[in-house]
This record gives sequence, C-alpha cells and structure tokens, in this order.
Amino acid sequence: MKPVELKNQIYWVGVVDWAIRDFHGYETLHGTSYNNYLIVDDEPALLDAVHHDFVNISIENISKIIDSKKIRHIVINHIENDHASGLEKILEILPEVNLYMTEKGKKGLSRFMNLSRYKVNIVKSGDSLKIGKRTLHFIETPMMHWPDSMFTYIKEEKILISQDAFGQHMATVERFDDEFVQNHSMEELEDAVIDYYANILMPYGNVIKAKIEEIKKLGIEIEMIAPDHGVIWRSHIDRVLNLYSDMVEAKAKLSTTIVYDTMWHSTEQMVFPIAKGLEDEGIPVKIIKLRATPKSVAVKEVWKSRGVIVGCPTLNNGVFPSVAEFLSYLKGLRLKNRLFAAFGSYGWSGEAVKDMYETAKSMKLDVFEPGIRVLYKPSEEDLAKCYEFGIAFGKALKKYHAKMEV
Ligand code: FEO
Repeated sequence: MKPVELKNQIYWVGVVDWAIRDFHGYETLHGTSYNNYLIVDDEPALLDAVHHDFVNISIENISKIIDSKKIRHIVINHIENDHASGLEKILEILPEVNLYMTEKGKKGLSRFMNLSRYKVNIVKSGDSLKIGKRTLHFIETPMMHWPDSMFTYIKEEKILISQDAFGQHMATVERFDDEFVQNHSMEELEDAVIDYYANILMPYGNVIKAKIEEIKKLGIEIEMIAPDHGVIWRSHIDRVLNLYSDMVEAKAKLSTTIVYDTMWHSTEQMVFPIAKGLEDEGIPVKIIKLRATPKSVAVKEVWKSRGVIVGCPTLNNGVFPSVAEFLSYLKGLRLKNRLFAAFGSYGWSGEAVKDMYETAKSMKLDVFEPGIRVLYKPSEEDLAKCYEFGIAFGKALKKYHAKMEV
C-alpha cells in the first residue's frame, strides 16, 4: 500500500500484513498492519520501524516521498520485534542517523542488535526534539506495552503517535477510522480495539489508567491518534478514549460467556441447560467451544462478559488440555472483576472442576461455588441440575454485576 498523508507532510509509510494469523500465539484472524510515520521537515524524522519481513516495503514507501538518506532522526517508540526488527535494515542506509528511545528501550534493543556503532539518544518524559517547524515531545509509557514504550506527540500538528495503545490487529485498505466505519462499521472497529486490548494490554489496565490520567493533566490537544497497528483515529477520538476508559476499569456487560471443551460430548451436553437457565434469568449468553474457536476470540468474549463459566472433562486426573491452555493464557492476562464458575464430566476421579476453581482463585477471580460435576454422561436428573445451576449463577451474577457497577 502506498504512503498516506496524515497532515501537512506527515505520512504513514507502513505496511499491511494481510496474511498473519499467529501473532506470538494470538490468533490474528484479520491480519494486522505495522504503522510507521515520516515527518518531512528541515530535519526529516521517521517515527518507528516495522517488522523485518516487510521493511523493504516501508523503505520503498519512504522513497516515494523523499530520498531516504535525508532522514536525520529515527524515534523508536517501542522495541518489540513487530516494530523494531526492521531497524537494522534501515540503519544500513542511514548509519549516521540520530536514534531516540527510552533508557529501557536502549537496554532492551541492545539485546536484539548491536547499537554501539550508532548515535543513540536516551529520552524521557518532558524531553523534546525540534526538527524544523515541528517539535516532537516524548512521553514515557512503560508497560504500554513493554517497559521501553513511549508516545511521541507532534505538538504543532496535535498528533499523538501511540505505538501499541489504541491499535487494532486489522489488515485494511482504510488508514483512518472514519474510512473504516464508512466501508464497514463502528461495531467492527470497536470489536477490533477490544480484541487487541483483551489479548495484549489487559494485564496493564492500572498502568494504562494512570498514564491516560497523566496525559489528560498535561492538557495537550489531540486531533489525531496514530497507533502502530490498524487504523488512525481522527474522527472518533473520544470514542476510543471512552472505550479505553471503560476497559482500564475492567467494565463488562451483564452477560455470560461459557467456554468449554469436550471428549465424548458429555460436558457439551451440560452446556445447553446451563445456558438455558441463564437465558431464563435474562442473562445473555455466548458459548465458545475451544478447539473449534481460537483462544484469542474466547478471551475477547470473556472480557466482554461479567460472568465466565468454564467446562471440561477430567483427563488423566486433570483439566482437559485445551481448557488448561486457555486458563493459563487467561491467567497471564490477569482477568479481574469477573464471576467465575466451572463444570464438567468425569469417569472416576474427576479433579478438573476442582482444579479449574483453584486456577480461578489463584487469579483472584470471584467464584460461584460449588461447581457441577457429572459422572460419565448426564442423566435427565443431571441435566435438570445443570439448568438449576444456570439459574442460580444468573441470580448471583446480577447481584455481583450491580456491586461492580457501583
Ligand atoms: Fe506491536 Fe508490543 O508490539
């Protein structure tokens, strides 16, 4: 895709990756983009690199605007490989360029490449760089997404380059939010923002909340938020900021996601009466079968719901592997403010339900106990108990949700 002008000689010179479906284990069903930006000024500056597999495309994009050798400054807002791994190739063209990154950026990037031969400038919040008519202001944002992360604010143009924050893993021909909404929908765009947050940024909600407050206090005007993935925000900035405000508070809908897997359909048979009980209590339900659904989708749906019910059979005295993997992933993401319950079938010892509760408690989730277990195959009586379990969970969830909304 050719370069796109954001404003007055500031260009997107990134790459759209239509094919990626596995982003370090996160199933990116809609691909992604690696965004970087070129500012043409007295001293041209490049903000961020791209994934090394695609860096030649970004270099070609730059060359469509200026002679790439004229770039005087490169800002590395984030050192993760999807952005910074293309830097070495760019530095082959620009060995004398000035590099800017945080102290942790330098420390981290030195583990991926030899920085000693380059001009590296350490920057921190409050530092700025005048490149001509424009000034770049640096704002450290540690753990948004890695310890090295920072934002760059282009004051004269009121553009915030936000690296991973406010991004989406989406490959699109549209570069701006309003174009995407016109050709697709706001719901689809918001779903992509939620998907990204749930799978990448969820563990850092408190850090992000504090940083957003800090930036608000700076009183900077923002007319555009340009992340390093997905579309650029220019028409719906308030909407994405409000969405983030809700997400950092771990807000959720009064609904339940049931995530399960099954061996011989016994656990699966338990799902539907539980869901019916919830629905009869007025609780909307989403059902996700693992091994038929990417775990990143399961995480996104769990994140949207206040209630989480996980079901699996006991296999070899423990949790069924696909569910164990899902719970391990969820634990790493530090889900919070959700009501959890578990169910499952078993043949002889039946530890899975107990083990799932232990995992949930180790995550400090609130739990609805006891869970429900069925020997081998649910009888009519068992199915009736599952329905009652759904009803009881629904009643408890309403109270829990009301408490969380205060
Ligand atoms: Fe898009 Fe944390 O890298």
